[in-house]
Amino acid sequence: MKTQTGQTIRLEDYHPTDYLIDTVHLDFQLDPSRTRVLATLALTPRQDTIAGTPLVLDGDALTFVAATLDGAPLADDAFVATPDSFTLKRPPAKPFELTIETVVDPTGNSALMGLFRSNGTYCTQCEPEGFRRITYFLDRPDVLAVYTTRLEGPRAEVPVLLSNGNPIESGTVGGDRHFVVWHDPYPKPSYLFAAVAGDLAHISDTFVTASGRKVDLRIYVEKGKEDRCHWAMDSLKRSMRWDEVRFGREYDLDIFMIVAVSDFNMGAMENKGLNIFNDKYILADPSTATDTDYAGIESVIAHEYFHNWTGDRITCRDWFQLCLKEGLTVYRDQEFTSDERSRPVKRIADVRTLKAHQFPEDAGPLAHPVRPETYREINNFYTATVYEKGAEIVRMLATRLGEDGFRAGMDLYFERHDGEAATIEDFLACFADATGTALDDMMLWYRQSGTPTVTSSGHWDPENHRFTLTLSQQTPPTPGQSEKTPLPIPIRFGLVGPNGDDMEIERVEGAEVSGDVLLLTEAEQTIVFHGLGARPIPSLLRGFSAPVRLVRQDGRDDQLFLLAHDRDPFNRWNAAQSLAMDHLTAATAAVRDGKQPQADPDLFRALQTVATNERLEPAYRALALQLPSESDIFREIGTDVDPAAISAARRAFRADMGAALAPTFRSLYDSLADDTPYQPDPVSAGRRALRAVALDYLAAAGLDSVEELAKHHFDSARNMTDRLAALSTLAMNGMPSAEDAFDAYAVMFKGDALAMDKWLTMQAMIPSDDTLDRVRRLMDHSAFSIANPNRIRALIGAFATGNAVGFHRADGAGYHFLASIVMELDSKNPQVAARLLASFRSWRSLEPGRRAAARTELERVAARSGLSTDTSDIVSRMLS
Ligand code: TRP
Ligand code: ZN
Repeated sequence: MKTQTGQTIRLEDYHPTDYLIDTVHLDFQLDPSRTRVLATLALTPRQDTIAGTPLVLDGDALTFVAATLDGAPLADDAFVATPDSFTLKRPPAKPFELTIETVVDPTGNSALMGLFRSNGTYCTQCEPEGFRRITYFLDRPDVLAVYTTRLEGPRAEVPVLLSNGNPIESGTVGGDRHFVVWHDPYPKPSYLFAAVAGDLAHISDTFVTASGRKVDLRIYVEKGKEDRCHWAMDSLKRSMRWDEVRFGREYDLDIFMIVAVSDFNMGAMENKGLNIFNDKYILADPSTATDTDYAGIESVIAHEYFHNWTGDRITCRDWFQLCLKEGLTVYRDQEFTSDERSRPVKRIADVRTLKAHQFPEDAGPLAHPVRPETYREINNFYTATVYEKGAEIVRMLATRLGEDGFRAGMDLYFERHDGEAATIEDFLACFADATGTALDDMMLWYRQSGTPTVTSSGHWDPENHRFTLTLSQQTPPTPGQSEKTPLPIPIRFGLVGPNGDDMEIERVEGAEVSGDVLLLTEAEQTIVFHGLGARPIPSLLRGFSAPVRLVRQDGRDDQLFLLAHDRDPFNRWNAAQSLAMDHLTAATAAVRDGKQPQADPDLFRALQTVATNERLEPAYRALALQLPSESDIFREIGTDVDPAAISAARRAFRADMGAALAPTFRSLYDSLADDTPYQPDPVSAGRRALRAVALDYLAAAGLDSVEELAKHHFDSARNMTDRLAALSTLAMNGMPSAEDAFDAYAVMFKGDALAMDKWLTMQAMIPSDDTLDRVRRLMDHSAFSIANPNRIRALIGAFATGNAVGFHRADGAGYHFLASIVMELDSKNPQVAARLLASFRSWRSLEPGRRAAARTELERVAARSGLSTDTSDIVSRMLS
């Protein structure tokens, strides 16, 4: 493992390589601890390369064995091979062939980058810089080559041998060994290379593309888990069809494979023709997967499949352009889910995610632009900003251009850049060229970090029948960017009249308006709407048309009106959220002053109306009843935050609301009972969600009979969704029977790692000062392993990000614990360690006592010698 501090890489320093790699032949002799890799690279100097310019290939912890140039052994003084690089001192000035042999240890590879083993299965993870842990290479995304891969190993141990592209040859070697050769005709960067070898089972299916080509579909998985792959297969076929219909994109090889592995640093990886998945995003059956898991599988399958065009066929010129593939592909998977399920529900869910992860990132020491300009460790830039805010920028483009204009731009992008490594500028140019729209101003969204605050205030002039809206925008300073420029902010809007309908507007002055979208471009703009019959209530930022914080100067009555009448479902939900937020911030202040927070009967009544409105879909009603999260309130308060006070205030609100609306919740609970067999479809999932919310409010109210009800819900559950909802209600509301339920659960799911992850998570989230000790004890439980990222995230990640009370314990013990784990993990899996450490990202906003405690722990990590680049980069940005 490299422990160098990592130099800073800069976007402005980009220049193409001196050599191109046209083809790569890889030969793997698989062995648990000494896998031999023979790589044959066909290289060509670029036209303008000065003859003899040294060729420097990247490596990472490699063991060099031998090298030849055009078939002849290399003289000792012709090259230098270290674990981290291979230099050919004086390459020929014409095309040449370089063959290098390396040896790697897949079993000892605990970082899970490069070639590693998961439960005995060999597999690879190369994005972003893992290929250099397999062989020396120009390991950067703008070097596109055609790969042929031969895998050889003992047939009994590795009957399945997979790589990218199509299989072209296979056979036996000696008595018990065999090989398969794969060829991928599409030139690709090294980060999209993949190989898998093991004793795996699979399910298969076929898909006929729009143009009539038949594609074999396969999902490979550990033996005995085949039955849990059918939802993933179903999701894959729906994704393939959708990309044809919505974007005109067909699949392009004869076979598409997915492999599920249980040790994986992230969700999944889009390797060409051979996606590799964290098994959490493949395996599902009703008894072990929740509705949320089913939805997650569907969207990750879609995401990785969509990368085939946005990522693989068109890739990134350099890692600064990561959002080119990630932001765009997230946008595409969000649209897929919106079309497959409910658009308003999906939009609300995505905005909640954005606010929970990206907004805090943008507001703290780790803030960075969607397209960063420098990095020390690229692994630390697979962030909510690059992914989720990146998707929001694409969505703003679609909002500004309309459906047809957006599609025209995408068509041009696919046509113009197919087979290339592109930039954000290339991408934007396609939309500008296809629609004749000037879009240079959109570049600022990629360059400028921080969440803009948009402030609105209105003035009604009855004499002249006009309404004046003053909008201003302001973006706070972020690391490295003290001065901010106004951004182009598309604001979808309506003026809601007294009867609840949108009003006709005669004429608008002061902003560019197209359809129902106005574009705010200045620091402040005064917009006049003419010809109105009555005072309107503006509904702004409908559908959350831009990733900004909207502060409205108008009052509570207007929000209550919008909550009841806005025809935009997103803004109705948002009105409820902002009303609740006002209350929760005030209640938090009250708790800190040692006072009882006041109940809010008007708001309860308004929410009751939503809860019981049968014309609204249950999933939407469930979301509307969910209060802003603790992290939302944290961010709203912003400075000197006391997480324990937030938690107490929010609990008090839930208790009051549960008590005030108990009959409503009870009748919802009863009326939504369902004894039909489990189906993961969005409608029945929505009903289960609403029923669970009702149960949870009843529990929050602490009503006598509710513990029995929750216990019964748990015991009689016939699917994981209901079982886990009941367990959560018992545990999070401090009900004594939670302990029996945890024990019963552990008996039921012993040995099922993914189901036991939920058990770990639930315990880690219990809002109590004692939870830290519980988490420590659970680390010794057989269901936990520090070597598996899913287990770490389930227990320690959930504690650090999902338990404000426990993690932010006033004595700093939660911080001390997390820092210690990060240091222990850093030498084994730096990527996961650095991610855990990022849970401190909002530490500067804490009240002084906790802030000091957090600083002490960050400084303790920073002082540790031999830190990985990943962790050292995070901790130094966090402290600077
Ligand atoms: N490109 C992957 C995706 O978003 C994510 C990814 C990046 C990844 N680096 C990784 C996955 C490392 C696993 C391990 O679809
Ligand atoms: Zn992705």
